[in-house]
Amino acid sequence: MNPLRVAIFASGTGSNAQALIQRAQNWGPEKVEVSFVLSDKASAPVLEKAKAFSVRSYAVEKNTTKQAHEQQILHLVKEHQVDWIFLAGYMRLLSASFLSQFSSWHGGQSQVVNIHPSLLPLYPGVDSIARAYQDRVPQSGVTIHLVDEGMDTGTILQQEVVRLLPDDPMANWAQRIHQLEHHMYTKFLDSLIRQERRTFYFQENI
Ligand code: GRF
Repeated sequence: MNPLRVAIFASGTGSNAQALIQRAQNWGPEKVEVSFVLSDKASAPVLEKAKAFSVRSYAVEKNTTKQAHEQQILHLVKEHQVDWIFLAGYMRLLSASFLSQFSSWHGGQSQVVNIHPSLLPLYPGVDSIARAYQDRVPQSGVTIHLVDEGMDTGTILQQEVVRLLPDDPMANWAQRIHQLEHHMYTKFLDSLIRQERRTFYFQENI
């Protein structure tokens, strides 16, 4: 069996990307390969993190139309025969056309996932942790979901709760949420490698 090939798309710090890369490297190249890390920001720290772990990285900034930008990305995805895309703080929506092209290479299945620091559908979009904290919610958490063209709206695959304790400083709460993200996203990668969830391997349409 070929190794599972994943690509990670990220725009920022890349702590989730790093956790995924480390987990993949622990499994080894016979089982899983991070084909590349892609960022839409050339200055994103995630690109340096990828290099530090000897993972190929691409900065594909959007200097053209959305369609042309996505074509550049699809070209890379195809070249590397990527099986799954993990979004990890990628600050762009993928279009329906991008997603349908990608799924057409995977038996029509959606194999693009995202991680989000809230219990969706609550607090989609940016600053989810801070907004939930300001609302003094009793709990929030982390969601892994399939990606559609909406903002954090795709089918939910997994959710776990993080309680907000009385007098919990925002930084501590945020840290617990981020730690849970790393735990859940790496476990999700494990589940793909163990084939607990069916993968349709890259196959170009004939
Ligand atoms: C994470 O909280 C992720 O859930 C959200 O963006 C943040 C990215 O953080 N989508 P990092 O770059 O992985 O550290």
